[in-house]
Amino acid sequence: MDLGLNSKVAVIMGGSSGVGLKTAQRFLEESAYVAICGRDQSRLDQAVNYLLEYAPSERIFAKTCDVTVKADVDEFVKGTAQAFGGIDILVNSAGKSIMGHFFDITDEQWEEQFQLKYFAIIYAVKAVYPYLKQKNGGRIVNINATLSKEPEPHMVATAATRAGLLNLSRTLSHEFAKDNILVNSVSLGLIKTDQWERRRLQSNLDVPVEEYYNDLAQKRKIPLGRVGEADEVASAILFLSSERASYISGTTIEVAGGLGKTL
Ligand SMILES: NC(=O)c1ccc[n+]([C@@H]2O[C@H](COP(=O)([O-])OP(=O)(O)OC[C@H]3O[C@@H](n4cnc5c(N)ncnc54)[C@H](OP(=O)(O)O)[C@@H]3O)[C@@H](O)[C@H]2O)c1
Repeated sequence: MDLGLNSKVAVIMGGSSGVGLKTAQRFLEESAYVAICGRDQSRLDQAVNYLLEYAPSERIFAKTCDVTVKADVDEFVKGTAQAFGGIDILVNSAGKSIMGHFFDITDEQWEEQFQLKYFAIIYAVKAVYPYLKQKNGGRIVNINATLSKEPEPHMVATAATRAGLLNLSRTLSHEFAKDNILVNSVSLGLIKTDQWERRRLQSNLDVPVEEYYNDLAQKRKIPLGRVGEADEVASAILFLSSERASYISGTTIEVAGGLGKTL
């Protein structure tokens, strides 16, 4: 299936690792141009080296950027547009979740979550929107979590902010439709990325990697019986960014192995 992504420009907020990095690779394989960011320069350098296996440096733009800092976001987006002559697609993938029940989460942590899961998306959308409009249309894909619809008490801050983002995505899909800018979400269950690798290492469990993830899948009762891969999320992101999804806006694709009970 030709996705029609040849020569499109995709900005991936948080593309230096996990889902964002895999998505960048898949865009490059479709002959698109990609811009990635993250806060850590060495991780960003490693990501660029990895991506150079898939495309020449002319098709990759990378810059450190903290997505919670508006000036950083503006500069990164402007740099991308200057490097590639415009922008067609925005993927908001930067983030990390925080575990804890209501009284475990400090006010500072609540603020951090709102900055990362909410204001960062507002900044990115505001910065990219004029460029999408210039192209007479474009795509915005917001990475979310199944927690947005099915909150769990031990992840209260992540779940609450994710629910807000889901609502915002829907509103933006209505407001931007007149400009042919399609806004969708991809909601993740448990996906094997650096985020889970950090948790695995912190857990200090002396079990083989495969056993750790198998146990996790069993414990969380994932119907497909396994934790997902970043590449499986990237497939959904690429589809929503593609010409093949030209009549899809305001919706959510869940990439969660069947997890969840909400209709
Ligand atoms: N993996 C899962 O099971 C899962 C489940 C539900 C939702 N999600 C969501 O999916 C998205 C991707 O996560 P992932 O699993 O791919 O995690 P990951 O491998 O840890 O990647 C996260 C990326 O976001 C960047 N990032 C984090 N904070 C940032 C900031 N303030 N400014 C700029 N970049 C920032 C990281 O780079 P730096 O750290 O260098 O900044 C990294 O490139 C996140 O929004 C996450 O919450 C993941």
